[in-house]
Amino acid sequence: MAVSINKNFLKLPGNYLFAEIARRVDEEQKQHPGREIIRLGIGDVTLPLAPAVVEALKQASEEMGRQETFKGYAPYEGYDFLREKIASEDYGPLGCEISADEIFVSDGAKGDCANVQELFAPDARIAICDPVYPVYLDSNVMAGRTGKYQESTGMFDQVIYMPCTRENGFVPELPKEQPDLIYLCFPNNPTGEAISLEALQRWVDYANQTGAVILYDAAYEAYISNSQIPHSIYQCQGAKTCAIEIKSFSKKAGFTGVRLGFMVIPKDLTRDGVAIKDLWLRRQGSKYNGVPYIIQRAGMAVYTDEGKRQIREQIAYYMANAAEIYQGLKAAGYEVYGGVDSPYVWMKTPGGITSWDFFDRLLKEAGVVGTPGSGFGPSGEGYFRLTAFGTKENTQKAIDKIKNM
Ligand SMILES: Cc1ncc(COP(=O)(O)O)c(C=O)c1O
Repeated sequence: MAVSINKNFLKLPGNYLFAEIARRVDEEQKQHPGREIIRLGIGDVTLPLAPAVVEALKQASEEMGRQETFKGYAPYEGYDFLREKIASEDYGPLGCEISADEIFVSDGAKGDCANVQELFAPDARIAICDPVYPVYLDSNVMAGRTGKYQESTGMFDQVIYMPCTRENGFVPELPKEQPDLIYLCFPNNPTGEAISLEALQRWVDYANQTGAVILYDAAYEAYISNSQIPHSIYQCQGAKTCAIEIKSFSKKAGFTGVRLGFMVIPKDLTRDGVAIKDLWLRRQGSKYNGVPYIIQRAGMAVYTDEGKRQIREQIAYYMANAAEIYQGLKAAGYEVYGGVDSPYVWMKTPGGITSWDFFDRLLKEAGVVGTPGSGFGPSGEGYFRLTAFGTKENTQKAIDKIKNM
């Protein structure tokens, strides 16, 4: 008899969101061939790599071409030079006392977000924010940790959904049912909103009381501008016994096509008498062969004075776009959120229309493409996401067109 497939994959609805966006944009373009359409839906960076990063890539490539400096497989957990740099530069100034051997370098946050669930029991109950970056949920669906998808509610059975709406300031309340794994992402994609230290501390206290583990995705940490907002979950008391932090060089330094990220798994995080970090290392040893030397050297360039300055400029460029979108929409009378500590602006659709109806209106009347909030989860209905990753010129043009709608 032929082998069976992993039927959990069949529970996933098709990749409907971005395919449907592309289809509607194509149709509009066919109907109006000469018309300019501006895309503010993308979650990818557009500025080229910082010169300091490019130089590091070149130099490391040269090293790889010389016998005496050639490097083969990298350590599964990353080179010590990068782990030490991350510990001292990203965590030292925050007073978090994370050591290099608690840092696990990877080829980006997406894989880490998707793979970390493997360390926990197959029947662990997950809690996710709604709306949410889809990877947390999808990876648990594939792993068989959820029930069926219910078309009528847009939700999977056996998953704890934590609505994040304007009513709760886009920060979830502690759930009524008790989860084992809690996915939090701040600053958030798609809402663009951040979490205060006090609110995050409540989650840490809750996890320590219940034994749950928080998987904290801080991929947009570099965009935080408000000095009151925590840059790491380890700024909370007791987080080292209940939280894993996931970070990325993608949005911080334009590495989306280069691929570099890391997880922090503190020594003190144990369950069933086992250090979670040892499980992760064991997992990586079997399933992963390390991030290329060249890429880790490029990561080091991000921490040089020159690299820091160049990257600050890139982030400032995107955040000027975010301010343009936020203020422009506000001036046009829309209800707007996010955009201050993240490159995402999250708006309420006007007059209670659906996210998709607003998508069509914006496309047809202004020639601007965004992302319907309902694509990120049922509580995203009635919201709409615009991103700051476009060019300055296109962003200004798009906002002018929306204002004139
Ligand atoms: C919240 C969040 N986490 C993780 C990622 C993935 O980052 P990476 O490029 O490091 O895989 C993204 C990318 O858009 C994201 O929005």
